[in-house]
Amino acid sequence: MSRFWSPVVHQLTPYVPGEQPKLDTLIKLNTNENPYGPSPKVLAAIRAATDDSLRLYPDPSGDKLKDAIASYHGVSRPQVFVGNSSDEVLGIVFQALLKHEQPLLMPDISYGFYPVYCGLFGIQAQQVPLDDSLSIQVEDYRQPCGGVILANPNAPTGRLLPLSAIRQLLDDHPDQVVVIDEAYVDFGGDSAIALVNDYANLLVVHTLSKSRSLAGLRVGYAIGQTELIEGLERVKNSFNAYPLDRLALAGAVASFEDDDYFRHTCQAVMRTREQLTAQLQALGFEVLPSAANFVFARHPQHDAAMLATGLRQQAVIVRHFTAPRINQYLRISIGTDAECARLVQVLGSLLS
Ligand SMILES: Cc1ncc(COP(=O)(O)O)c(C=O)c1O
Repeated sequence: MSRFWSPVVHQLTPYVPGEQPKLDTLIKLNTNENPYGPSPKVLAAIRAATDDSLRLYPDPSGDKLKDAIASYHGVSRPQVFVGNSSDEVLGIVFQALLKHEQPLLMPDISYGFYPVYCGLFGIQAQQVPLDDSLSIQVEDYRQPCGGVILANPNAPTGRLLPLSAIRQLLDDHPDQVVVIDEAYVDFGGDSAIALVNDYANLLVVHTLSKSRSLAGLRVGYAIGQTELIEGLERVKNSFNAYPLDRLALAGAVASFEDDDYFRHTCQAVMRTREQLTAQLQALGFEVLPSAANFVFARHPQHDAAMLATGLRQQAVIVRHFTAPRINQYLRISIGTDAECARLVQVLGSLLS
């Protein structure tokens, strides 16, 4: 606390990111990073960009990257917004599109940053409860609101809504922006980007942190019709006109140019997810169906916090949330086959 803080700072409840341990001997299954490194072509592009040109500012609009993203998704450059991580893109989205008189609707269990942005930007949030199976029911969103945001697949549940449900949501709210955060969609979902040309109120947010193995590079983007993107550009250019640095731009462009690597690693993660799900079930866990690079699981006879602590003592870290409805679950990021095998082995010993 300080008397020098702006009043809003006293009210903030900041987001708490998953632990980034200093020890690299730990098996780290707690922050949904990709267990595989980035494409070798991405690393080569970053190395090639590491030269004297770093004295120059980067392209403020990141046009080469926007073109790579536009061509990958079959949209046009003015439909793409890029930023320094999807967290930053989301922050700009909240300011530019989601602050209205009516409350912003979001699931009661979803990405923990959404309520934090509401606090920072003075947006009234209204949380809509997931149903008893921890699924989003889009009918529950039929109420007056200033906008809707949800993650699909949802985090931390991993559950996926079909595009028909997203369409329903968009049809129910023709005068509000509906933001679909697709941080995990490449691990098994259909992207709502396919609907962007049909819906002026749809904005889809993606990140390169998960399926493209680039959490350390901090690149995210949003796709929507041009008026929405223009709103985002106005806020970005009122805050930081150069969010993506030269190395991030070079690496991100190269990632979209190596589709084989992207597909191959996503498939490996999905294969491991299915194996891990079966192994956890064999240990007696209930595992929610996941379309993401993590699973959300609980054991009917064992306390989740104790399991997380037991795993940690054996150098395996997973994420445990203390919120009431989910405090008996563990969120386990999909690692390599060897990492998941070790997780299962330690869990087996903790349960016996
Ligand atoms: C649903 C969701 N959205 C966005 C993000 C942020 O990703 P990044 O800021 O790394 O792009 C995360 C990260 O865990 C997430 O789970």
